[in-house]
Order: sequence, then structure tokens, then C-alpha cells
Amino acid sequence: MNMNLRVAPSLLSADFARLGDEIARAALAGADYIHVDVMDGHFVPNITIGPPVVRCLRRATNLPLDVHLMIDRPDIYAPQFADAGANFITIHVESPSLDSSHKISSLLTTIRSLGVKPGIVLKPRTPADAAFPYLDLCDMVLVMTVEPGFGGQAFMHNMLPKIAALRAEAQRRNLALDIEVDGGIDLSTAQLCCAHGANVFVAGTFLFGQSDQEMAARIAALHNLSP
Ligand code: DX5
Ligand code: ZN
Repeated sequence: MNMNLRVAPSLLSADFARLGDEIARAALAGADYIHVDVMDGHFVPNITIGPPVVRCLRRATNLPLDVHLMIDRPDIYAPQFADAGANFITIHVESPSLDSSHKISSLLTTIRSLGVKPGIVLKPRTPADAAFPYLDLCDMVLVMTVEPGFGGQAFMHNMLPKIAALRAEAQRRNLALDIEVDGGIDLSTAQLCCAHGANVFVAGTFLFGQSDQEMAARIAALHNLSP
């Protein structure tokens, strides 16, 4: 197993009536993080969960909670998710309230000051260099490999050069940056992402909806990838 690779099952594909059980079985299956997709019906055309639910998830697991904010006002809500127990909070550079580089830097700094690992997320049409000014302020960059909003979409292969560009820039600057991919991840697309420099794999459909045994086998296979 490559110690640097992490698997983050996305709760978006879990049974929302049984979130505690779903997290417990992901943990038993070998998950490293639990990926929590927060959508506000404005930034993306779907609505999911807010800080009260994250607070309950926090009591249900010791696994790090990786909170992906797909919302118009991450500046208002990121501190609330930090207080609710998030371990990672990733914010989209495209969020309308983050309309200056100063606002993005300042929110990343705020998140870090709250003891949470901050990250930047890039939608498919946003180029790699949109994240470059913030890499020192981030623990992670999340490259969306589908348009955010829904699970079960097809992986966009044209995101691979973006992953490679981010990894090259991180190496050039000697940064131990996590590069996370999200959307359409299965074993074969994760292998491609890994070969291009990604090391954290979010997967919804590929992991939830499987038996406990199959989920564990799939997480193990992801952990065993090598570039
Ligand atoms: C999509 C979310 C993803 C989603 C991925 O906007 O960010 O985390 O759950 O689902 P799959 O793995 O099914 O593409
Ligand atoms: Zn996500």
C-alpha cells in the first residue's frame, strides 16, 4: 500500500437516512477520510447538508471530515463548518463572494487559524494556474473531474493535464501538497489521476451502493495504485 494515497468516500452516494451506519461501514472498509458535499442550491443546482448535520457526523466517527463547500458564501459558512468539526474545508475559487484574490487568501488563512486544513477547488473550466497564488496557504487542491452538483457523472479525461500542472508547480516550490480528485472516480480513472500526480481519491458511486466486502476490496485496490 502506498502510504501517500488516501481514499475519501463521498456521502453524496450514501443512504441519507442511515448516515451513521454508512460512515461506520466506510471506516471498516478502510476509508481514510469522509468526503462531505455541501451544496446550497445557488452555486450548484442541488441542495445537500449544512453545519448541523456535520456536527452529528463529527460525533459518529473519528475519521477526518473532508468538507467540500459548493456554496455562494463560503466566507460566512466556512467558520460554521469548522466549529461543527470539519478537518478539511475546501472552497471554490469561483464562489461569487470570493471575487478578489485578497478575499480568497484571507478565507484560507481564517480556515487555517481555526485549526482546519484549507484547500482550493477548481471547476473543470478553471485552469490550474488559478490555484497557484494560494498554494502556500493550502494543504490540498481539489480538481473537479466532473461539473460539481451531482454524483454518478462521467470522468472528464481532459482534466489530467491540470492535475499534472498542479503537481509540477507544487514540486517546483517544494510543497507537500495533497491533490484530490472528485467526480467519476473508479479504479481506472483513479489510476490515470495517480499517474498525473493526484493522491486523494473521492468516490461516491464507486464505493457506496456496494456490499461491505466489495467496498473494502475497492478501497484496498485504490490504496494499492502506483504512479
Ligand atoms: C459532485 C461531488 C462529488 C460526488 C462524486 O459535485 O463533489 O463528491 O459525490 O460522485 P461520483 O464519485 O459518483 O462521481
Ligand atoms: Zn465533492
